[in-house]
Amino acid sequence: MDFSEYKIGVVGLGYVGLPLAVAFGEKVETFGFDINSDRVAQLRKGVDLTNEVNFLELKAASRLRFTCESEDLAKCNVYIITVPTPIDEFKRPDLSPLVAASKMIGKLLSPGDIVVYESTVYPGATEEECIPILEKESRLSINVDFYCGYSPERINPGDKERRLKNIVKVTSGSNYESSLVIDEMYKSIIAAGTFRAASIRVAEAAKVIENTQRDINIALINELAVLFDLLNIDTSDVLAAANTKWNFLDFRPGLVGGHCIGVDPYYLTHKAQSVGHHPEVVLAGRRINDSMGKFVANKIVDLMIKKGVQVSNSRILVMGFSFKENCPDIRNTRVIDIVREFEDKDAVVDIFDPYIDHEEAKIEYGVCPVKVLNSNAYDAIVVCVAHDEFRKIDINDIRGLGRANHVLFDIKNILPQGQVDGRL
Ligand SMILES: NC(=O)c1ccc[n+]([C@@H]2O[C@H](COP(=O)([O-])OP(=O)(O)OC[C@H]3O[C@@H](n4cnc5c(N)ncnc54)[C@H](O)[C@@H]3O)[C@@H](O)[C@H]2O)c1
Repeated sequence: MDFSEYKIGVVGLGYVGLPLAVAFGEKVETFGFDINSDRVAQLRKGVDLTNEVNFLELKAASRLRFTCESEDLAKCNVYIITVPTPIDEFKRPDLSPLVAASKMIGKLLSPGDIVVYESTVYPGATEEECIPILEKESRLSINVDFYCGYSPERINPGDKERRLKNIVKVTSGSNYESSLVIDEMYKSIIAAGTFRAASIRVAEAAKVIENTQRDINIALINELAVLFDLLNIDTSDVLAAANTKWNFLDFRPGLVGGHCIGVDPYYLTHKAQSVGHHPEVVLAGRRINDSMGKFVANKIVDLMIKKGVQVSNSRILVMGFSFKENCPDIRNTRVIDIVREFEDKDAVVDIFDPYIDHEEAKIEYGVCPVKVLNSNAYDAIVVCVAHDEFRKIDINDIRGLGRANHVLFDIKNILPQGQVDGRL
């Protein structure tokens, strides 16, 4: 099939699916489908609340239509599935969005169609979980009637430089022929080019280890930050010195939230355990990173006590609530761990974050972020997220928000060294 004959259906229009639908929609007929009708209505008006695609880019995708009617997808011959892959309360993979999307697409499949999964999963999920659903619902056979692929996504929300088109994309197919076709299809939108992986499982594994490796690297530095704190050594000073070695890896301590780095390793550990392997390093990394909110809060409490500030009934300002800088995404933000620690100690916490949706914060976490900050109001101020907006603020203006004996703690190291009371 020639590229111009593709009719592409992108299923799930979030951080991953929308930029993809826009890129294809600039070139071929594309349907962007989402079960969230509010999201579809906003996109039709040219509004992307994730801030990944602007109004002009949405308009430039002249062949893209948004829909929440699955029937609209029936005319597609390529389906790309970009639905969430979260974990449940026991940190087990929750494949229910993937299963639902596969059921829906299975009912629409015609001979010759291609289905590509982009959601992050464990090695084997596409072939063991998704393809059987497609076969059952369609009564068609894989590699006889239809074909599948897996092409993981590497976009970095909030990053305006590394974007879909200039990041090399890994592709794969259910057989050799389909891997070539799928690879060519992505090449037509990805300027940086593609890497055709040896198999779907290899592509799945590659994605999940990219994020697992990052998680472990940050965990090591977090563990060292806890140790250096006990030794009274400034971690940033140590890292600055160590970073002068050519092969020292430049990772910083911090909170590890979001729905990728803090979640994907559990997909890998789930699969490992299912084949009888206990993944010690990966799980240790997860434990360390999940404990950092408590560590930071306790550190600030120590500093407050040293300054003679009573913690119960104190007022704490938390600057930044999203899981990363310049991004409105609050899912699995670990800033909440700091908030909860202070609430447990009967402190009053004000959250200030100009990027986030306040209503969502209320629904998801029961918190009510503040819109206006008063001078002289806080016993402790914690810079949790390195938003550009916060980088622009003069440290004296931040200090002006604090009461006489306040503590200023900088998790992200964006304030001048030596002028804060503590940092990671
Ligand atoms: N956000 C990232 O930085 C990133 C990067 C690489 C990979 N990923 C992976 O990509 C996948 C999608 O992530 P995301 O951040 O785009 O998620 P998201 O939550 O931003 O968007 C997912 C969208 O899918 C929709 N959806 C849910 N179930 C659906 C269904 N059954 N049918 C149709 N639409 C449905 C939701 O309404 C939502 O709009 C996940 O597996 C994630 O791990 C995310």
